[in-house]
Amino acid sequence: MDDQYIAKNERYDNMVYRRCGKSGIQLPAVSLGLWHNFGFVDNFSIGRQIIRDAFDMGITHFDLANNYGPPPGSAEEVFSKILNLDLKGYRDELIISSKAGYLMWPGPYGEFGSRKYIIASCDQSLKRMGLEYVDIFYSHRPDPDTPVEETMSALDQLVRSGKALYAGISNYNPEQTQRAVNVLKELGTPCLVHQPKYSMFHREPEDGLLDILKLEGVGTIVFSPLAQGLLTNKYIKGIPENSRAAKSTSPFLTESQITPVIVSKIKLLNEIAVSRNQSLAQMAIAWLLKDERVTSVLVGASSSEQLADNTGALKNITFSNSELKQIETILNES
Ligand SMILES: NC(=O)c1ccc[n+]([C@@H]2O[C@H](COP(=O)([O-])OP(=O)(O)OC[C@H]3O[C@@H](n4cnc5c(N)ncnc54)[C@H](OP(=O)(O)O)[C@@H]3O)[C@@H](O)[C@H]2O)c1
Repeated sequence: MDDQYIAKNERYDNMVYRRCGKSGIQLPAVSLGLWHNFGFVDNFSIGRQIIRDAFDMGITHFDLANNYGPPPGSAEEVFSKILNLDLKGYRDELIISSKAGYLMWPGPYGEFGSRKYIIASCDQSLKRMGLEYVDIFYSHRPDPDTPVEETMSALDQLVRSGKALYAGISNYNPEQTQRAVNVLKELGTPCLVHQPKYSMFHREPEDGLLDILKLEGVGTIVFSPLAQGLLTNKYIKGIPENSRAAKSTSPFLTESQITPVIVSKIKLLNEIAVSRNQSLAQMAIAWLLKDERVTSVLVGASSSEQLADNTGALKNITFSNSELKQIETILNES
């Protein structure tokens, strides 16, 4: 792939952009995360092709974190390489995010939410990505031992110093979210976005979080919308080689999680998807986007074909009451 990449002129024609809370930013309804498939262990050409194709599909938002790889940090380095090769001329059309929160280096300053860790980690991320600034910098998880004021003022400092344009939080529960949002508001750097886990299989954000975010004018970008691939037709007939569940490099989805109950639910959900002329992945994404509080669905992809399948969800994000009821019944079966 030595050819010079030139983005398609029609790249903005089919993507839907949604306003992120009460901010000036619009995010693509489908964004791409680089948690998996972009580490040094992964195939660089495939990753590069996915990013090129994503941008051609109108995906303007790429989500990273300090620890993405493996090894940790490598996804940011790989992304930097792709940026330099292909997307350098398009920086102002991109929303690039990174995060700090999980273990990144040894000792007491290598994880969680101290000012020391957040600022140092953002500096490292910028260096790895070869960027002057990220568009969004997140506190990746709440810190039970650091005052939320300290963590939020570190985000505020990053924004004021120009290293990040916006601040975000991830994995904060409703109570922690309310406190963080209040502190950021007082500091004058409103929280742009929250990144919670949300899918048909993980419903926690419905217990108060989405309401708070709506009320506070904070956007929501939801991660693992396909439950890491479970909410696709991939595992209906067993565990394919090269799938996330089969790979030893990903301990986050294991074969033992693919239980007969899960497979039975996937099969039934797939039947509804087929009746809607969608793939299961498309229906799972559409099901999230039917809620206008969800700004963007943050998918992962190990191929451009998967990403094309996922963005195809945008063709139909409405559900009849009967479809919603059937889905609910399947999800509640044990
Ligand atoms: N804030 C946080 O704490 C946090 C945590 C986790 C993730 N995230 C973010 O969310 C992003 C997405 O997370 P995720 O990768 O778990 O999301 P996901 O979309 O639920 O799962 C993505 C995986 O599902 C499979 N897949 C995707 N589309 C498919 C399709 N159309 N047909 C069949 N299989 C398909 C692929 O796995 P195969 O390898 O099996 O093909 C792909 O890598 C991450 O990259 C990261 O940016 C954030």
